[in-house]
Amino acid sequence: MITAGPTHEPIDPVRFIGNHSSGKMGYALAEVFANQGADVHLISGPVHIRAKNPNIRVTRVKTADEMNSVCIQELENSDIIILSAAVADFKPENIATEKIKKTDKNLTIQLTKTPDIAEGLGKLKKQGQVLAGFALETEHEVRNAIQKMERKNFDFIVLNSLKDTGAGFGFDTNKIRIINRSGKIFTYELKEKSEVAKDISRYIEANFHV
Ligand code: PMT
Repeated sequence: MITAGPTHEPIDPVRFIGNHSSGKMGYALAEVFANQGADVHLISGPVHIRAKNPNIRVTRVKTADEMNSVCIQELENSDIIILSAAVADFKPENIATEKIKKTDKNLTIQLTKTPDIAEGLGKLKKQGQVLAGFALETEHEVRNAIQKMERKNFDFIVLNSLKDTGAGFGFDTNKIRIINRSGKIFTYELKEKSEVAKDISRYIEANFHV
């Protein structure tokens, strides 16, 4: 099971809170695992790309709540779970039923927390399942990534930094570090996301019995 892309949290019928994730990293992972014969379930936020390999089953979702429901439902059928989606951490508390009109006043939108999908899956994870997450950081990268890995019970975390040119949102390339539960860091060069996906797949093959 792989999650990809952003989530869109509606404000009104025409506006949402989102982020710059293109889905490229998650779709690249899906293609690599499917090309190796895996039955891949790709849970995708709203993106403009399509999966190529017929072994990829795609479920399209919009919001963090929708992504969360599908992930929980699919967890028990999954051997390897890779969470590359950039899930919104907050959503508007109330969704306006009509388009919000511009007035002379400032607008305040009350936000409430979305479910932390990764943390929930980390609690439900069974022995033998491999759960991996991503961390997109701008500062104190390694420290923050390790804290996330531990809090969410990941078996390892893939760290990408917005400080690295060509890494993160939207690019065809990425530069990652993989951090394991012992705190050991494996550093990779900047490369195409398809090659980054192969590195992650090789890492799993070398370190887990799945
Ligand atoms: O889609 P691209 O343009 O190719 O860009 C790829 C990427 C930069 C989005 C991807 O490589 C990446 O880093 N994804 C995770 C980005 C992120 O939201 O990181 P985070 O540090 O906020 O979250 C940590 C982990 O928890 C992630 O595995 C995330 O999927 C998960 N999470 C976060 C919040 C939440 N409410 N639920 C979650 O499951």
